[in-house]
Amino acid sequence: MIKTSTAALFAPVQADLATVEARLREAIAGQNPTLTATTTRLVNAGGKRIRPALCLLSAGIFDADREKSISLAAAVEMLHTATLVHDDLIDNSPLRRGAPTLNADWSPNAVVLTGDYLFARAAYLGAWTNNVQVMTLFSQTLMTIVNGEIEQMFSSKPVSRDNYYERIYAKTAAMFVLATEAAATLGGADEVKLDAVRTYGRNIGMAYQIVDDVLDLSGDPKQMGKPAGNDLHQGVITLPTIHYIETHPQDLDVQRFLDGQIDKRDIISRLVAAIRQSDAIHQTMQEARELATCAQLALEKLPDSAYTATLHALADHIVNRNF
Ligand code: IPE
Ligand code: IPE
Ligand code: MG
Ligand code: MG
Repeated sequence: MIKTSTAALFAPVQADLATVEARLREAIAGQNPTLTATTTRLVNAGGKRIRPALCLLSAGIFDADREKSISLAAAVEMLHTATLVHDDLIDNSPLRRGAPTLNADWSPNAVVLTGDYLFARAAYLGAWTNNVQVMTLFSQTLMTIVNGEIEQMFSSKPVSRDNYYERIYAKTAAMFVLATEAAATLGGADEVKLDAVRTYGRNIGMAYQIVDDVLDLSGDPKQMGKPAGNDLHQGVITLPTIHYIETHPQDLDVQRFLDGQIDKRDIISRLVAAIRQSDAIHQTMQEARELATCAQLALEKLPDSAYTATLHALADHIVNRNF
């Protein structure tokens, strides 16, 4: 189910979002029964549907073809779903959208193949737009995401703010840019307006991931439908941790951590607790709010409409959410 708090927010595109839901379900029906059952469970478990809403809102501003916008929105949500399947395998995460992940029950081989199937399905839905520019953006985004994941896996770069921002652009903001830019492209937006929607998508995408990283440390797993406190245990260093390291260089656990003792569970658990209680969360949220404001500023280059106003409100929602 779409969460109520976002349902009210997405009022101008509510009807089209319902059509996107139907299209997502149609798209996964009729395959191997196990594959269909699993992917249906995943889609039915819902999610916030932020990316398809972004697509439809951007399409609304530029009066893009309705049918094509709906296919594009479904394609982007399917692409997101595919990345979640692979992400949970990589992160070794047991829960997603309140239900056990595929990797909780299946072998990695089966999970990878299911993810691959969803990637193909996403491209198939995207092709319904019959637009080469859109398909180019789509494939470039997927290349950026996968390249970012590989970079995170193999890079030995020191933890830095620049490196963090590059990572969250690749893994999250690139898809937000895709959602807004591809829809605006469908509507024939000019270069100045395309630039504005890209700037909006990039900034709220970054803010979205930063808030997700804060929620990993301070959120309620029940409300989020996924585990909390996982990132650092998986060796993923996020902005709150970077803030904490910068402001607590004398902390013995920070020193042990920087010395590479990242495999010690008790050190990490103490660090997670210390970060939660420190000012790092507040400072990190401040950065997310600044990005949301940058996104809102970019909207000034777009025509006034109910869609533009919703994008403005969405930027605020993203930094105020708690799931
Ligand atoms: C989870 O995305 C992955 C991130 C980029 C943080 P969402 O928080 O949008 O997940 P759903 O779709 O609502 O489940
Ligand atoms: C988002 O990062 C990964 C994707 C691009 C799918 P996370 O690993 O933080 O996402 P969650 O917290 O598992 O949803
Ligand atoms: Mg994850
Ligand atoms: Mg996370």
